[in-house]
Amino acid sequence: MIKHARLALPLAIALAGSALATGVAADELNLYSARHYDSDEALYQAFTEETGIEVNVLEGDSDQLIERIQREGVASPADVMITVDAGRLWRAEQEGIFQGIESDVLAERLPESMRHPEGKWFGFSQRARVIFYNRDNFDPSQITSYEDLADPAFEGQVCIRSSNNIYNQSLLASLIEHHGAEEAEAWAQGVVDNMARDPEGGDTDQIRGVASGECDLAVANHYYYVRLLKSDDEADREAAEKVGILFPNQDGRGTHVNVGGAGVVENAPNRDNAVRFLEFLASNEAQEAFAAGNYEFPVVDGVAMDEVLESWGDFKKDDLNISVLGENNPEAIKIFDRVGWR
Ligand SMILES: [Fe+2]
Repeated sequence: MIKHARLALPLAIALAGSALATGVAADELNLYSARHYDSDEALYQAFTEETGIEVNVLEGDSDQLIERIQREGVASPADVMITVDAGRLWRAEQEGIFQGIESDVLAERLPESMRHPEGKWFGFSQRARVIFYNRDNFDPSQITSYEDLADPAFEGQVCIRSSNNIYNQSLLASLIEHHGAEEAEAWAQGVVDNMARDPEGGDTDQIRGVASGECDLAVANHYYYVRLLKSDDEADREAAEKVGILFPNQDGRGTHVNVGGAGVVENAPNRDNAVRFLEFLASNEAQEAFAAGNYEFPVVDGVAMDEVLESWGDFKKDDLNISVLGENNPEAIKIFDRVGWR
């Protein structure tokens, strides 16, 4: 059985206390997760069946989980922490949450770009930050790259969310790496100058902005579009049909990708089980389920994925190491501030 707890509910905290305070046991794994997908349960069950290791899950948002692990200190029962975005994983690393691990399985199964250089955390699913366009109003051959979004030709046409969002911070972090801070700042300024409106809402709202014609172009993670395409609400599906998807920088470094990832916690009481769990996440079976939970791309080649993703065919991904997105995060925030990207 998988014991579940959510941070937000007082009852659940009590439950978590009893479920997670049992400490070191050869057959346990305490997982702190900022992912909340229904399919995860089946994934943990499969791990238990394969290894006999029971999984206790504590769910919360990333910052809550980091804070909790810090508060619990050396007595923390946390073995593994899972969250999304390299920027967040890097922040957790900066707070001293993770320990470096060595694993031949992970070294062999995961591409180098998905492994933190000291083994502190790993990417297990990929999300592409892509460009969306209005099929009626915009000819997609006009744009091929993120750099193009700053072209004055697109003044007043771009929808993109606020800069306090980690996804945009990671995108700018990649531009800093490829072009240097100065050029990245000029790019950010160019995008601000091209905005169709002041940043508002989440990624889905940017795609909706394109559908409604408020903007011709938008930047968002690919899975928000897939959710609209598969929505139970007909209006959502109709909106998505008005929108085309474009994978930037195919002639160069490839499309910026970010990750869902995990690391072994610094004071993990069940360290061996934690390593085993990460290795399990790199297996074909787990890769398929982990990515499918949110219509993401597996990081291991040849693993089956959602039919919509399959239909897009292969595309080139930027293979920048995920740790770089974190390292350049503070600089990205400063640049956003300077150019007045709200
Ligand atoms: Fe998201």
